[in-house]
Amino acid sequence: MDLCRVLFFSLGFLTCLGKMAMTPKDLLFFMETMEQPRSRKPSVRTGHIHQLEQLLLNVSFPGHNLTLQTRTIQSLVFKLACNFTGLSLSSAALEQGPQLQALHTMQFPAELTWDACSRTRLAELRLICIYFFTNKFFQDDSNSSLLNNYILGAQLGHRPVNNLRDPVNISIWHNQSLEFYTLTCVFWKEGDSQHSQGGWSPEGCRTEQPSPSQVLCHCNHLTYFAVLMQLSPAQLPTELQAPLEYISLVGCSVSILASLLVILLYIHDRKQSDSIASIHVNLHVSVLLLNVTFLLSSTLAVAPVPGVACTALAATLHYTLLSCLTWMAMEGFNLYLLLGRVYNIYIHHYVLKLCALGWGVPALLVLLLLTVKSSVYGPCTIPLVHNQENHTGFQNVSMCWVCSPVVHSVLVMGYGGLMSLFNLVVLAWALWALRRLRAGQKAPRTQACRDTVTVLGLTVLLGTTWALAFFSFGIFLLPQLFLFTISNSFYGFFLFLWFCSQRCHSQAEAKTEMERISSSQMTTH
Ligand SMILES: *[C@@H]1O[C@H](CO)[C@@H](O)[C@H](O)[C@H]1NC(C)=O
Ligand SMILES: *[C@@H]1O[C@H](CO)[C@@H](O)[C@H](O)[C@H]1NC(C)=O
Ligand SMILES: *[C@@H]1O[C@H](CO)[C@@H](O)[C@H](O)[C@H]1NC(C)=O
Ligand SMILES: *[C@@H]1O[C@H](CO)[C@@H](O)[C@H](O)[C@H]1NC(C)=O
Ligand SMILES: *[C@@H]1O[C@H](CO)[C@@H](O)[C@H](O)[C@H]1NC(C)=O
Ligand SMILES: *[C@@H]1O[C@H](CO)[C@@H](O)[C@H](O)[C@H]1NC(C)=O
Ligand SMILES: *[C@@H]1O[C@H](CO)[C@@H](O)[C@H](O)[C@H]1NC(C)=O
Ligand SMILES: *[C@@H]1O[C@H](CO)[C@@H](O)[C@H](O)[C@H]1NC(C)=O
Repeated sequence: MDLCRVLFFSLGFLTCLGKMAMTPKDLLFFMETMEQPRSRKPSVRTGHIHQLEQLLLNVSFPGHNLTLQTRTIQSLVFKLACNFTGLSLSSAALEQGPQLQALHTMQFPAELTWDACSRTRLAELRLICIYFFTNKFFQDDSNSSLLNNYILGAQLGHRPVNNLRDPVNISIWHNQSLEFYTLTCVFWKEGDSQHSQGGWSPEGCRTEQPSPSQVLCHCNHLTYFAVLMQLSPAQLPTELQAPLEYISLVGCSVSILASLLVILLYIHDRKQSDSIASIHVNLHVSVLLLNVTFLLSSTLAVAPVPGVACTALAATLHYTLLSCLTWMAMEGFNLYLLLGRVYNIYIHHYVLKLCALGWGVPALLVLLLLTVKSSVYGPCTIPLVHNQENHTGFQNVSMCWVCSPVVHSVLVMGYGGLMSLFNLVVLAWALWALRRLRAGQKAPRTQACRDTVTVLGLTVLLGTTWALAFFSFGIFLLPQLFLFTISNSFYGFFLFLWFCSQRCHSQAEAKTEMERISSSQMTTH
């Protein structure tokens, strides 16, 4: 190698360029030096890319096209003429290393050469494509994530190509689950930012997603293209995961304690309890079971749970959720009977029948599912998004739950929605009944206050707050689960408060009743 060549390769002396006739072998060597992590300065990297462009435009080679491939860079050169009718490049034919598994295609329209051909009569036009399978050459201020870490560049001759009417079409295929991302086709705009050499801009590019695994970009110019992956605003970043897990742990524990207390109180004086108290306690038992299973399953989710245990856990969680929902509906039904003044209609073994419904129907449903298709329960993988370390940004979290989207929407969302709807109707009806009741009397202010408290209590009792959680339920998204847990934990606690207030209230009433009776007895004596 002569001195100029050595200087060129080691120091990037651009002045040497013109003095050399580069061969494909030299170019390959240059691309390999580009890959070496010697220089970390973005400006040097950008300089290298421009040098590579120049070299590709001037490399001499036989035939019509040239392909050069290193570990992370692929360069293609095409000799075009003014009779160019369009070109379609597919990575399928070029696939080599294991890092190039995913596919991409680029389609260039015939219009590409029109401008250049009208300007001068050229003997030869060159189209060069430079593909980077790493994003280290293009880093913007915010370290944006790119789909597959692909940057596909193209250039025609020495002049820029802009404002094409028939766009360049670029497709990138991927295997990632990107439901939490918005994908945008962008190009590299140099000098667009303060700290780095440029930034990503979506100008002149249109993004399409013809299938879940394909992104199609239509761009009206030639530069370096990529597909930017941005977190959808609704997405929960992993940073929030730990605090939410903590909240859910605390909430569930509070709920469990409250439920336990109510159940103990009930057992303590079950002699004087009526059907209302029995229904309350059943609801508390189901809330308790739901919280315990939920805590168990979220703790176990950290470690991989073996198949059968996971199925059992998922089925149990589903069962407790269904029975909890059913018992809430029972409360609504009971309230309807009470306020509807039909409670004097005696129902034989009332509580027993309710128990059969509340614990039996969910068991039937879950057992049916287990026998027909037990695979609906199992470890479901939930993709969590993290933005910082790797640019792929994914992390699998598995949880034992209902995995089938159909079963989930019917037997979790549908069932919950139905129960919530029923209770909403009962609540509306109860409010109406209360109003009618009070309309006859001249209610004092304290009465209005009491009524408000009653309505609030009824709302919690009938679990309509849960409807909120159900409305935002997607196909089992982790954030929704946490939302659900938070409202659920409050639910257990409020249920407890309601229970206490009712108890105190009835005790106070009983006391005044006793006093009234004893005083009337006194007067008769
Ligand atoms: C391209 O290479 C030729 C020799 O093959 C050289 O004469 C010419 O100056 C080079 N042009 C550029 C722009 O580097
Ligand atoms: C490149 O040229 C070879 C023949 O030299 C041809 O078989 C091949 O299809 C060309 N590749 C493209 C992408 O045009
Ligand atoms: C285009 O023109 C070149 C010469 O400029 C010729 O070699 C080539 O065969 C032509 N291609 C087509 C498809 O006509
Ligand atoms: C995507 O997955 C399919 C099979 O599931 C596989 O054939 C293909 O190579 C994968 N592609 C990538 C980019 O991993
Ligand atoms: C790009 O896609 C558009 C719309 O799908 C199509 O009209 C156009 O012809 C395509 N361009 C090329 C070069 O194939
Ligand atoms: C981007 O990454 C670099 C190191 O690769 C780091 O120094 C910088 O702080 C990161 N910037 C942002 C906004 O994360
Ligand atoms: C992703 O991160 C892990 C550790 O966090 C590391 O071992 C691995 O090499 C990284 N993968 C890539 C492609 O950067
Ligand atoms: C998630 O897990 C599945 C199988 O357990 C695996 O095929 C997939 O590659 C994983 N995805 C990621 C992003 O780790």
